Amino acid sequence: MKPLTVNFARMKETIEYSAKVGEIPNQGLRRLALSKEDKTMREQLREWMIDAGLEVRIDDFGNMYGRRKGQTNFDPLVIGSHLDTQPNGGRFDGVLGVLTALEAIRTLNDYEIETYRPIEIVNFTNEEGARFEPPLLGSGGLTGVFSKEYVYNRQDRDGKFFKNELAEIDFKGGETNRLQRAHAFLELHIEQGPVLENEGVTIGAVEGIKGMSWLELKVTGEGGHAGPTPMPLRKDAMMAAANIISHIEQKSNVFDNDLTVTVGRLDVKPGAVNCIPEEIVFSVDVRHLDDEVRKKFIDEMKVEMQDMATDRKVELETETLWEVNTSTFHEGIIDQVSKSAERLGYSNRRLYSGAGHDAKYMNAFCATGMIFLPSVDGKSHVESELTLDEDIEKGANVLLDTMIHVTDNNEQL
Ligand code: GLV
Ligand code: MN
Ligand code: MN
Repeated sequence: MKPLTVNFARMKETIEYSAKVGEIPNQGLRRLALSKEDKTMREQLREWMIDAGLEVRIDDFGNMYGRRKGQTNFDPLVIGSHLDTQPNGGRFDGVLGVLTALEAIRTLNDYEIETYRPIEIVNFTNEEGARFEPPLLGSGGLTGVFSKEYVYNRQDRDGKFFKNELAEIDFKGGETNRLQRAHAFLELHIEQGPVLENEGVTIGAVEGIKGMSWLELKVTGEGGHAGPTPMPLRKDAMMAAANIISHIEQKSNVFDNDLTVTVGRLDVKPGAVNCIPEEIVFSVDVRHLDDEVRKKFIDEMKVEMQDMATDRKVELETETLWEVNTSTFHEGIIDQVSKSAERLGYSNRRLYSGAGHDAKYMNAFCATGMIFLPSVDGKSHVESELTLDEDIEKGANVLLDTMIHVTDNNEQL
């Protein structure tokens, strides 16, 4: 049988709608988790899901589900991603996973197809970790990686609690609404890196996700006046932090070519032109496919950074905010993604993800896989993030075909 294909024009309307909710200049999107923009988008998704005949429920982490009945009441196939974004994010990261899932369901409705198993769309809360750290709070809460108390007590940078903000936008549902069991989880996402585009390949059958660590470093020196204080008498937290940060980069360059390190957030106290900084707090994100390499790098770095702090007569405290090992997805799902791409005549290859995704935690909950689409110039987490229409359409078709095959699979995956 010829593979079914989605209605791209219809899907494009949903993508354009989403691109307006939290729109910022240069085609960007700012829709932080549990913000008023997030609320507006969630309300729209709920409406779309109801219109598509889905039974909607919200769990106690604010994760949204839309369930479509199957011929059986067996464990559902779950498809989706997240609708929150980075502060200066793009319009595709996460969004595509939810909206292609919606379009796939609408297509099943068009053709009056009743799948063997039920299918549930999911929108996970706070995937990005941009407002409430760490990331993956909704999927981590659901899968038991984070306790409810831990998730509820996360605070944003204004001191607002996850729990209160969730209630404020009216998306705090019941614990009994959590997804209990799933046959499989499928997440379509943009690659956010250059591999597919560079090779002219349309579909990525994702093999797994790299391990990663988030550290927070606090450098405490001594404040003072920028003018009268002679240089040798200073304990300048900024200069010490600058040394440490440049060392992190230099060390990573010689340690391992595939290691990535990022210092993405830095706070200066007191933060005035004519004050010697007394305290610097900054984050370090470290990723590698080999967990041992990542851990060894961090262990060595900690010792060296401590020595550098001592030399500069400042205090250094290091805290691990979050870490997760490399995960490998379900072979049957990876294979089905490749097969569906082949059936549709689209070029494809396997690859690992350097970015984190809800699929990481879902992988321990049920058989899991992801579909990647090319990112123009490999860009993501920036306003200029772009994935071409023709690739989105092909991706949605692969999602639909993979879904149909996975839901009809009666075997325990
Ligand atoms: C999520 O977007 C991450 O990879 O940090
Ligand atoms: Mn994402
Ligand atoms: Mn992201």
